[in-house]
Amino acid sequence: MIEITLNGKTQSLDVAPDTPLLWALRDGLGLTGTKFGCGIAQCGACTVHLDGQPIRSCVTPVSAVGAKPVTTIEGLDSAPARAVQAAWESLDVVQCGYCQSGQIMAAIGLLSRNPHPTDKDIDEAMRGNICRCNTYARIRAAIQQAARALV
Ligand code: FES
Ligand code: FES
Repeated sequence: MIEITLNGKTQSLDVAPDTPLLWALRDGLGLTGTKFGCGIAQCGACTVHLDGQPIRSCVTPVSAVGAKPVTTIEGLDSAPARAVQAAWESLDVVQCGYCQSGQIMAAIGLLSRNPHPTDKDIDEAMRGNICRCNTYARIRAAIQQAARALV
């Protein structure tokens, strides 16, 4: 049994230590907001926060989490998170939606470490999050709107 801190609560996981965090979340705990895309750290669909920063849960074994808190899209509760979610809604960022929880987690991570990102900062921070619906322009605009709301 492995214990992690997930969305503010202690959670026991009955999985092998090398189980990817993504599968522990989705299959073990039913937290399906975090998506499987590539499984090899190339698309960003599986992005969650570890200690407040985005990681790829598809390549992070549960044994690597340790005492650091994990946050998924279901557990967001911070000023940057609220600003990002409001901007996403107001600018209608989502198309099919599959990549979007990963995009939102990456965007919140960016604003948490850089509250005033330039377009270049945004492009660099978000380039590992692929959107097959090409919503990149709306994602960038929403991050800028969220940054303005946080001033
Ligand atoms: S599913 Fe993890 S990066 Fe693609
Ligand atoms: S909204 Fe469809 S993949 Fe990004």
